[in-house]
Amino acid sequence: MNENDGSKRSVATIIDGKAFAANLRGEIARKVEWLKQNHSLIPGLAVVLVGEDPASQVYVRSKGKQTVEAGMNSYEHKLSAETSQADLLKLIDDLNNDPDVHGILVQLPLPKHIDEPMIINSVAAEKDVDGFHLSNVGKLATGAEGIVPCTPLGSLMMLKDHLGELSGKKAIVVGRSNIVGKPMALLLLRESCTVTIAHSRTQDLPGECREADILVAAVGRPEMIKGDWIKPGATVIDVGINRIETEDGGNRLVGDVEFESAAEVAGAITPVPGGVGPMTIACLLHNTLQQACRLNDIAIPD
Ligand code: GUN
Repeated sequence: MNENDGSKRSVATIIDGKAFAANLRGEIARKVEWLKQNHSLIPGLAVVLVGEDPASQVYVRSKGKQTVEAGMNSYEHKLSAETSQADLLKLIDDLNNDPDVHGILVQLPLPKHIDEPMIINSVAAEKDVDGFHLSNVGKLATGAEGIVPCTPLGSLMMLKDHLGELSGKKAIVVGRSNIVGKPMALLLLRESCTVTIAHSRTQDLPGECREADILVAAVGRPEMIKGDWIKPGATVIDVGINRIETEDGGNRLVGDVEFESAAEVAGAITPVPGGVGPMTIACLLHNTLQQACRLNDIAIPD
């Protein structure tokens, strides 16, 4: 984590997700090595990509590379956009039954002709590394131990590292998606925060945001949340990754929070890029390791 960078206007601590994620990946690699030495077990992650969505291709490449760097086996299955639902189900069934595969991730979004919820729930709950299977969603909702979605898990890790105890804090999650908003709100509730979930129909969104000690932005709208929506000293987690055009005809990545103005008010903020993004894949590796251990009834020492 960096302290203030010395510039006059920025007061917020920048939460360095890149460094945090590198540290987490190092810890995971150490545990993977322990598993190899003591149990001759190599965790394996299968990633299934259907179609040629460019952003998905970038993520999948990155996942494969980091899986191998952590000492795990990576199995990539790239299928054409025309793949039938039956063929996709057959592949998932094979992976469910493959003892070398401990984690299965089907990259979303899927092509329109495929029933996404049905595919998500066809992955064995014991091999779900996204935390999207209904059984894992139910566990999170009821407070049972299970697999937690990667982006919210990474966001929570950074929040706890920065703030310590979260109990009693007021938190707002802007966005109600199944991938980020809803599980993030449940995780914060589990930490005994008082949680508001805001969305497109929320009245006086700036006013709601100004009440919050913790603000998690996951709406997918570039720079929507402004500095004057933020309570002074609040901790801001920006989940958004939006590519916008610049005046010179190029493009750049921005979050859902207007970073410049927010950093003048917040106590701490995650940058985009280099904040939540790197934590998502690190948490995917964490979930894969967890499933490999559970499937083999192994408890890993810290
Ligand atoms: N597409 C964008 N984010 C995710 C994710 O976390 N998991 C999967 N499976 N697909 C995604």
